[in-house]
Amino acid sequence: MKDKQAERAAASRRARAWVRRGLAGAAVCMVAWTGWEGASFAGTPGTPGTVGAAGSTPQAPVSEEVRRGEYLARAGDCVACHTANAARPFAGGLPIVTPFGTIYTPNITPDADTGIGKWTDAQFLRAMHEGIRADGAQLYPAFPYSEYTRVSDDDVHAIRAYLTTLAPVHYTPPGNSFKFPFNQRWLMMFWKWFNFHEGRFVPDSRQSVEWNRGAYLVEGLAHCEECHTPRNLMQGLRNSQRFSGATQARWHAFNITPDKTAGIGEWSDDELVRYLSTGVASGRANAAGPMAQVVEDSTQYLSGDDLRAIAVYLRGVPPVSGGVTHPRDQWGQPANDVMAMRGTSVKGVDGAQLFVANCASCHGWNGKGVGGSAPGAYPSLIHNSAVGAAQADNLTLVILHGVTRHTAQADVLMPSFGAHLSDDEVVALVNYMTRQFGDPNAKITATQVAVLRKAE
Ligand code: HEC
Ligand code: HEC
Ligand code: HEC
Repeated sequence: MKDKQAERAAASRRARAWVRRGLAGAAVCMVAWTGWEGASFAGTPGTPGTVGAAGSTPQAPVSEEVRRGEYLARAGDCVACHTANAARPFAGGLPIVTPFGTIYTPNITPDADTGIGKWTDAQFLRAMHEGIRADGAQLYPAFPYSEYTRVSDDDVHAIRAYLTTLAPVHYTPPGNSFKFPFNQRWLMMFWKWFNFHEGRFVPDSRQSVEWNRGAYLVEGLAHCEECHTPRNLMQGLRNSQRFSGATQARWHAFNITPDKTAGIGEWSDDELVRYLSTGVASGRANAAGPMAQVVEDSTQYLSGDDLRAIAVYLRGVPPVSGGVTHPRDQWGQPANDVMAMRGTSVKGVDGAQLFVANCASCHGWNGKGVGGSAPGAYPSLIHNSAVGAAQADNLTLVILHGVTRHTAQADVLMPSFGAHLSDDEVVALVNYMTRQFGDPNAKITATQVAVLRKAE
């Protein structure tokens, strides 16, 4: 139960950031383009057609298309945003809180009244490719159609076929509570004008089949860029800095370009494949924040071939250094503070003491972890990207909120320490850890901790 809550909270966190970005973009456009006000954007109604996989019920033999659709739906991580309650998957209702109000994800089960059971395939296709609802209204970009627009018609139809086999759930999510003018869906036209390029993926014939498959997944369903590429003032993706890192729901989504110092250029393809399928690249990184959810709901289900294709594609994107001079996963020395502490009394708030008292039981007195690279091991804090990052935010978030990640390989749980440690204690602990195990220049303040505490 607790795990599900954590999952939901994480999904909600992710979705929140999406909307915040999207609406900030809309607000900018509104100021610049008030002349558009009053324009009519009613879309053309979709052509009526047959719905999904004809005749499939949960009991019917699963067709090849449905099976493919399930796989693709996982690649697109639909379940993460469209599930608020594990008992009614895909029925929506996940609250996405924004500064402008709250948006609730819609029900995409085949229920005729409250879901998308009555939608035609053409209407579904238009939603995925153009961000337009069955009734012609604009959809908010919290729904990542900016990426899904690249997905082939065949694949979108397969996803629809799969969704049609789900148990219909009769459930109406609460209405959105956007304040004027953000409740005006047509305003999304402005956002789209600047930030949305409708169109299917076009293979590059100079590249290998594998590269093209990777590009199709990364730029399409898997929407990696939405979190890993920084945004411009208009909240559009900065094309010159693709994959060079961005902040996602207060977590730093690291630079994953092939730069050897700032990115993941020193990672082997095997390490990246293992990270995406298990959440662990031993001696480099553990997926703990939004990425843990991506691994859990999405990438762990992708085939080895697809994950390898993703690695091949990422290896080919332009490296971005951003002036970084030391790889984040190459910092740290084992600690021996526990020896120095013998016979001394506890005085004030001391990072080393807090580490020994709270963390050493799992991560070792010296911080070298327990279990090496075995599944479910307690990782070493030396050569770890969260501890060695130039900003201590991810490390602080891990301490405050813990780690939950379920994969076929292991159920990973690190308890959260937010309720046990004061802001000052977290500061002392984090600054001790970055000095000992990470980048000594990375520091956190009590004010920052207070903000990160509210991240969940
Ligand atoms: C990051 C969160 C997120 C992900 C991932 C996501 N969606 Fe959505 N989706 C939304 C939100 C939010 C809306 C509502 C937007 C609005 O009301 O304008 C939405 C709307 C929709 C709609 C329109 C339904 C309606 O009644 O208006 C469809 C269809 C849909 N999503 C299908 C999918 C599919 C299929 C996938 C996976 C391939 C998916 N979504 C993945 C957030 C998400
Ligand atoms: C919802 C946002 C989101 C999406 C989508 C996403 N990531 Fe991430 N990713 C993150 C964040 C945040 C981190 C930082 C670590 C964490 O969350 O624990 C991260 C970390 C990583 C890392 C580890 C880097 C390091 O040095 O620790 C890799 C590799 C990575 N992501 C690759 C990908 C790929 C490939 C995709 C697409 C298949 C992807 N990510 C999609 C948010 C995202
Ligand atoms: C009960 C055991 C346990 C305790 C106690 C514990 N951890 Fe962890 N820690 C884990 C597990 C499990 C993981 C995740 C391993 C994985 O990703 O496979 C983890 C992961 C981490 C990571 C890596 C996160 C990332 O994003 O790469 C850091 C950093 C960390 N712990 C710091 C701490 C600190 C600091 C404390 C003390 C406040 C602490 N841990 C206490 C079990 C523990």
